[in-house]
Amino acid sequence: MKARAILLLSLTALCFRPALAETLREAAPKRLLIGACVNTEELKNPKLAAIIAEQYNCLTPEYELMPEFMVDKGWRFTFERGDRVVAFAETNKMPLFGHMLVWHFVTRNWLFEDKDGKPLPRAEALDNLKRYIEGVVGHYKGRIVAWDVVNEAISDQANEFLRPTPAQRAIGDDYIEKAFEFAHAADTNALLYYNDYNIEQPGKLEKTLKLIQSLKAKNVPIDAVGIQGHYLLNWPPTNMIDKGIEALAATGLKVMITELDVDPLPRDTSGANMAVTEAGANPYPDGLPADMQEKLARRYGEIVTAIVRHPSVTMLGFWGTDDGHSWLNDFPVKKRTNHPLLFDRQLQPKPAVDAVIRALKTGK
Ligand code: G3I
Repeated sequence: MKARAILLLSLTALCFRPALAETLREAAPKRLLIGACVNTEELKNPKLAAIIAEQYNCLTPEYELMPEFMVDKGWRFTFERGDRVVAFAETNKMPLFGHMLVWHFVTRNWLFEDKDGKPLPRAEALDNLKRYIEGVVGHYKGRIVAWDVVNEAISDQANEFLRPTPAQRAIGDDYIEKAFEFAHAADTNALLYYNDYNIEQPGKLEKTLKLIQSLKAKNVPIDAVGIQGHYLLNWPPTNMIDKGIEALAATGLKVMITELDVDPLPRDTSGANMAVTEAGANPYPDGLPADMQEKLARRYGEIVTAIVRHPSVTMLGFWGTDDGHSWLNDFPVKKRTNHPLLFDRQLQPKPAVDAVIRALKTGK
């Protein structure tokens, strides 16, 4: 039933072709995959599914593979949501990037903590980590080409290297290398990456380089590093992004921009620290005015020009397709109307699409 629905969806999808002379994936150099996060809600909309199937050549499930959705207490794995995204990707021959195996949000704390929230003994926590990763990576073996093994382990605090997450507190700092080893053992062909935000910026960049060097020194099976890329109109500066990519590429890992979006609304905090909330203006509830569309397009063009200059960047993923589905409608300010992506709420391409296509094609 589901497969028929997915096939019908994909066939119907072909009726809604965006009026673009060229798609994002066609404009990109062959070495650079162009993707987006996608969720099961979006795939129910045939017009949006059409745009996704046409514009990208890889995908990332937005939240369906997060631990909260993958396993229940008593170790009942629930793959239905993830399977729907995998089926869509396979129908459209799009490699899928699994997001993620270990994170301190949308997780199952009982993997690492007892009922009182105290860290489990190391051995027990390690067994749980191994069992979880074997269960998920094993289920999708050969169907998910890459895994975001550990997400956002580096601390935002200047004087702290790793976040004290439930996994870190129970296992210790080596939970990261163990997670990569378990993932590799579960699917030796999968590309394994570390993913984080603000790691192109001084402070977290140095800590990420330290982490990567430490993992490589221990021959930990890590292939790539994901720079999330949740940017503001004016932060971080493009040359900082450029230098950050260069420094991370110098480690010898592939570099991916995994979650690119540009927030055009006023806000104080940058990045994606989900613990941060702030009150704030909601200046464009009825749509982004033309001058702001131009600013957004210019910023996207500059960022993508910096990205495409680096041959070590192998994937550029946007964190969504249309403004209506962006997480930034609720972060860091709840319930506001944001406009951070390439397509508007009517699924029409914004001026930013042309800027990105030009940057992908010409590198300027
Ligand atoms: O759709 C389900 C609903 O059926 C269910 O009843 C409800 C129960 O909580 O959850 C709903 O799903 C929510 C989903 O967004 C769709 O709205 C999840 O709870 C919620 O956790 C999820 O939020 C995701 C968030 O990460 C988790 O913190 C966002 O979609 C996603 O865009 C956001 O993305 C993160 C990356 O994973 C990591 N980098 C930062 C980025 C932005 O925070």
